[in-house]
Amino acid sequence: MLNFELYNPTNYVFGKDQIEKISVLIPQKRKVLLAYGGGSIFKNGIYDQVKSALKDFEIIEFGGIEPNPRFETLMKAVDIIRENKITFILAVGGGSVIDGVKFISAATHYDGNPIDILKKRILFKEISKVIPFGTVLTLPATGSEMNSGAVVTIEATHEKLVLGGSALFPQFSICDPTVIASLPKRQIQNGIIDAFTHVMEQYLTYPHDAILQDRIAESILQTLVEIGPDVVESPTDYKLASNFMWCATMALNGLIQKGVPSDWATHMIGHELTALYEIDHARTLAVIAPNLYKIMFETKKDKLAQYGERIFQVEGNSVEEKALNAIHETVNFFHKMGMKTKLSEYTPDYEKSADFIVNRFEERGWKALGEKQNITTQKVREIVELSY
Ligand code: NZQ
Ligand code: ZN
Repeated sequence: MLNFELYNPTNYVFGKDQIEKISVLIPQKRKVLLAYGGGSIFKNGIYDQVKSALKDFEIIEFGGIEPNPRFETLMKAVDIIRENKITFILAVGGGSVIDGVKFISAATHYDGNPIDILKKRILFKEISKVIPFGTVLTLPATGSEMNSGAVVTIEATHEKLVLGGSALFPQFSICDPTVIASLPKRQIQNGIIDAFTHVMEQYLTYPHDAILQDRIAESILQTLVEIGPDVVESPTDYKLASNFMWCATMALNGLIQKGVPSDWATHMIGHELTALYEIDHARTLAVIAPNLYKIMFETKKDKLAQYGERIFQVEGNSVEEKALNAIHETVNFFHKMGMKTKLSEYTPDYEKSADFIVNRFEERGWKALGEKQNITTQKVREIVELSY
């Protein structure tokens, strides 16, 4: 196993009727920015619960953080925080609102030009330099509620870039599985596939000796395969909803990443497809992942065979056959979860994507991605073209 440090300071508050705990989780006398998205929280009652819990706090509201949050929008919140001397932020929403709040938290006291936080990938490690924040999660998917990363889009240049650092963990996250009752099917499907792919990025590499890490990762994959189709049909079923929410958090709260190699190229390529075509994050992953496994077959075939046998009980006379069957089962699962797996099913304009993505990666100096740093820009081109 590789050496590791496991640090995660987020107070994870899980279960029914937990939103009222905000009143004790936010330190007294804080002036709070209540940040949310496009307004779903007004329709499903979450806003009312949050407002009632915040009755003893001075609050300013900031709504309108869009899916794939925009730098330009978030900077308006930064101005409000500076003008009003806000001392705590509460994010109420899915990954986009939470990621947006991480950026706002980092940008408020940032000395330089805030756009550099994204362009230069500045890491935030000092708690004293960020605004503390907590979250009320409304969409299980990204794991942002218990990690210190975020993804923000610069509208002006259509770039989707990451930021993060150990100072950007939420102080607390309230995760009430009943919030998923109001989610459109499409978002539940997205959540399952995003979480599934997060595990795959950290698991589907090459055989190593971190046995427990493999088994934890496989248990999350297996649970998602088992409950995914049902949770879409029955989002008010608490057993399904609670397991879904915990899987999504466990998939990207840092635990399964420790001591093992990880890939993340599917995400890096997928982010470009969202930046270019506004395809939902999870749906870009379902398009890219199977083709990445095919192009990187030699690197990944041993782990693919293990994954296929343990998650889908595939059979085959050789590692290669089992690995191919595993890719086939993955695509079947994605289809079962309502994903399309070809780029041309999302946009007629798909043929420009390979050049666009390769140029972007070259501009950024990303010569190679993946667990073995062997996903060169030529391989990226092949993966994207195979996804058409
Ligand atoms: O904006 P509102 O009106 O709230 O509506 C949202 C939005 O339209 C709606 N929604 C959320 N909770 C709801 C609800 N509708 C009804 N009932 C509820 N309970 O769902 C829509 C999508 O929300 P969004 O937050 O965009 O979805 P998600 O949680 O999938 O987040 C996606 C973003 O997270 C980033 C993605 O790139 C994307 O920008 N990611 C963040 C990661 C991280 N921080 O670790 C890792 C991921 O790989 C991912 O990249
Ligand atoms: Zn993701």
